[in-house]
Amino acid sequence: MRRTWVWLAAALMAASPLACDQRGKAAPVELAPYMSRLQRYKQRLGFAIEAKNQKLAAYYLKEIDETSETISLKVPVLDGQPIAENMKSFLEPAISPLERSLKAGDWAATAGAYQTLVERCNACHVQTRHEFIVVLPASGEPPRGQRFSP
Ligand code: HEC
Repeated sequence: MRRTWVWLAAALMAASPLACDQRGKAAPVELAPYMSRLQRYKQRLGFAIEAKNQKLAAYYLKEIDETSETISLKVPVLDGQPIAENMKSFLEPAISPLERSLKAGDWAATAGAYQTLVERCNACHVQTRHEFIVVLPASGEPPRGQRFSP
C-alpha cells in the first residue's frame, strides 16, 4: 500500500513539470510587454491630440502614467539598469506639463509636450543601452476600428 502511494506521488510529479518549476525560481518579469503597451498608448495619445479630443487624450496619458508606475513596481531593475529610477527621471517629468496643457485646452502647447514625451522615451532607451529602439510621434492613418475625433 505504501509503495503504491510513493509510485503515485512520483507519477504525479513527472506528469506536472510545471508544478515543479513553480516551486523553483520565480520567472523573471519581462519589461518588453510593458514597453509595447507604452508604445500603443503613445500612438493613440498622438492621434487623440491630432484630433483635438481632450477626453481621449487625457485617458491615454493616464494609461501611460499608470503603466509607468506598474513598470517601476514590477521591473525596478533590469540587467543592472535602474529602470524604476529612470522611469522617474526620464518619463514622469514629461507627463505633468502634458496634463496641464491638455486640461487648459492649449493644443499648441499640448503638441509640443507630446513631442517632448516621445523624446524622453528615446532618451531613456539611450540611457539603458537600447539606443537602437527609436520611437516616433504618431503619424499617418489612425488605427482602424476606433474613432479619434471627439
Ligand atoms: C526606463 C527607461 C525607459 C523609458 C522611460 C522608456 N523605455 Fe522603452 N524600453 C526600455 C528598455 C530597457 C527596453 C528594452 C526592454 C527589454 O528588452 O526587455 C525598452 C523597449 C521598448 C520597446 C521595444 C519593445 C517592443 O514592444 O517593441 C518599445 C517599442 C518601447 N520601449 C517604447 C517606449 C515608449 C513609447 C516609451 C515612452 C512612452 C518608452 N519606451 C519609455 C527603457 C525605457
